[in-house]
Amino acid sequence: MAEEKDKVVLAYSGGLDTSVCIKWLQEEKGLDVIAVTAEVGQEHKSLEEVRQKALRTGAIEAYVVDMRQEFADEFLTRAIAANALYENKYPLLSALSRPLISRHLVEIAHKHGAKYVAHGCTGKGNDQVRFETSILALDPSLTILAPVREWSFHTRPEEMEWAAAHGVEVPTTKDTPYSIDDNLWGRAIECGVLEDPWNEPPEDIYTMTVAPEKAPDKPEYVEVSFEKGVPCAIDGQKKSFLDIISDMNAIAGRNGFGRLDMVENRLVGVKSRECYEQPAALALIEAHKALEDLCLERELLHYKLGVEHEWATRIYYGQWYSPLKQALDAFMAATQQFLTGTIRLKFYKGNCDVVGRKSEYSLYSYELATYDRGDTFDHAAAKGFIDLYALPTKVWAESRRNAGEELR
Ligand code: ARG
Repeated sequence: MAEEKDKVVLAYSGGLDTSVCIKWLQEEKGLDVIAVTAEVGQEHKSLEEVRQKALRTGAIEAYVVDMRQEFADEFLTRAIAANALYENKYPLLSALSRPLISRHLVEIAHKHGAKYVAHGCTGKGNDQVRFETSILALDPSLTILAPVREWSFHTRPEEMEWAAAHGVEVPTTKDTPYSIDDNLWGRAIECGVLEDPWNEPPEDIYTMTVAPEKAPDKPEYVEVSFEKGVPCAIDGQKKSFLDIISDMNAIAGRNGFGRLDMVENRLVGVKSRECYEQPAALALIEAHKALEDLCLERELLHYKLGVEHEWATRIYYGQWYSPLKQALDAFMAATQQFLTGTIRLKFYKGNCDVVGRKSEYSLYSYELATYDRGDTFDHAAAKGFIDLYALPTKVWAESRRNAGEELR
């Protein structure tokens, strides 16, 4: 009887790279391959077709795992709480999905007694770091294989030639020149003409958003309600967060809102030009911030801005399962307790403006803010307040003046 082979669980997208991975892991490493395809809300014709392709390519077992609910409820709720934007811009779509996919890879490895886990990331990106850091945290006894980092094809044609020679289906339709990753939280597009940061992104890279100039000439208003920081209704209609994300992707997208074109700093040290479209993510974060402006006490709000920056950086750097990130989550959760209320958004030709806000926990006081009759603010107290507030600077400035310096 033939000796039983060791098993490897591979994160399988159905593209050329991960298809070649299946064969390569079999032939070069002598492993039985179990393919796992994550349903995270990406665009696709049929994931069952992707599963069949894995089996045709030689996988002994292939799964499609629907992770959308967990993605929304465990990952994106936290991203919203943190208003998570890497480098103040990018709402982290790929970075958020990797720890979740990793968790499923590890679970399936345990189920099948696999010693190996593999992914199809290159050696140049962030995603390899995120997968491997997560897997090592979840089960350090697993050995991680990264075929794309190891194999010796230098170009796509070389890879296609190997594929054809080894019976891997090679895409027949003209391949997209871009590298794309997408899920519920949006789409990331890189490579091709985008590698020259001077080139304007061609219109055809976008699929979730229309061009702002082609968006309707009439504004569209939407009310988003939150409960303890999590979106819970649209226009007064209760919905799951998952459904709200889909709705917001459609609404914001048809109004041309949610595109980003940026140069970002990868963890591996490279600056890269990335285009994103994240209509729901950006609109919901905008609304969530507006509710925090209304409901969070000033010192907490200011302090939170720094914690948000730290949170987004941890996630971008692949540290979802780190103790720092967990502690930051606890802080975020504490800030969201009274974040219940409704925000009115106005979409118009690529813009998303907050035009209304209300909450039973609002800290906005008309009596304190108004310049009209009914003002309860103690104007007389302002004088003493400013005297003491300015005191340290006044004392210092006086001493510089005595030393003959002019204050500028
Ligand atoms: N630059 C983004 C990030 O690091 C997007 C990565 C997209 N990944 C991809 N395989 N195209 O999160």
